[in-house]
Amino acid sequence: MRETELTASHLIQPLFVTAGAGVREDIPSMPGVQRLSIAELVEEAAGVRAAGIGSVLLFGIPAEKDELGSGAYDEEGIVQMAIRALKESDPGLTVIADTCMCEYTSHGHCGRLRDDGTVDNDSSLELLARTALSQAEAGADAVAPSDMMDGRIAAIRGRLDEEGLTETPGISYSAKYASAFYGPFRDAADSTPAAGDRRGYQMDPANVLEAIRESKLDLDEGADMLMVKPALPYLDVVHRVKEATGAPLAAYHVSGEYSMLKAAAGAGWIDERAAALEALTSIRRAGADAIITYYAKDAANWLDE
Ligand code: PBG
Repeated sequence: MRETELTASHLIQPLFVTAGAGVREDIPSMPGVQRLSIAELVEEAAGVRAAGIGSVLLFGIPAEKDELGSGAYDEEGIVQMAIRALKESDPGLTVIADTCMCEYTSHGHCGRLRDDGTVDNDSSLELLARTALSQAEAGADAVAPSDMMDGRIAAIRGRLDEEGLTETPGISYSAKYASAFYGPFRDAADSTPAAGDRRGYQMDPANVLEAIRESKLDLDEGADMLMVKPALPYLDVVHRVKEATGAPLAAYHVSGEYSMLKAAAGAGWIDERAAALEALTSIRRAGADAIITYYAKDAANWLDE
């Protein structure tokens, strides 16, 4: 009689890859999550696969950042090298690349800055298209633009198609809110904006019609899958975007959602396993086909027991 299923096949594990060798660096605000150098990443991915998870979402932390985020579209960039290593060691693993500038720019914004410090949407599109192309060329099975610039899905799709990468799908972060729940991630990726915030390009938490509008626009521009982010505080958005579009939909159970559970569990205030599985089941119930969550591997192991 159960209406909603939660299995390992619904879960996507985010992983952070960093420059260097032999690195397994804890992220204090995200207990249980580490920044890994490439060999350690490959090892971790094998554990994720052994738990029954088929897909990972990859974030890169480059050795150096600059104004134009050039590490994002460098053929020998950290994510490009990591994608090659992962696909070489396990061709059956689905590797999704996060397509964004903020981990690579010295100012921490998701696009190119004008002299006055505001983000220049349109000239950022070329950099994002180059980033997606270099990720797909390195072997990424899908690209997931998380920058929220207007028009980026069309720009990325156009560039991939031009270069013959017509089979590489695009997972659009179509409804990404300007959320306080990304705090721990920004520690992990060292991507807190040096000045200002992301409200110029991410969405107002008070809006839901806009989420539907943005999602439809992304479908028109060629997105293959949509996403709502964060997840738990936005379950109504997950539900309404699914109802309005019928498109394949992911929800991102973000760093702050994860860290709150970890903190409460660490203090002995909550049953971590029950609470985490309840949260993930609820995200599925709201209408998400896939869930990106730092709990993916643990949840898959728990579901198996
Ligand atoms: C990059 C990006 C962010 C997250 C995923 N991709 C951070 C941000 O927009 O500041 C957050 C993920 C999380 O909190 O787990 N644009």
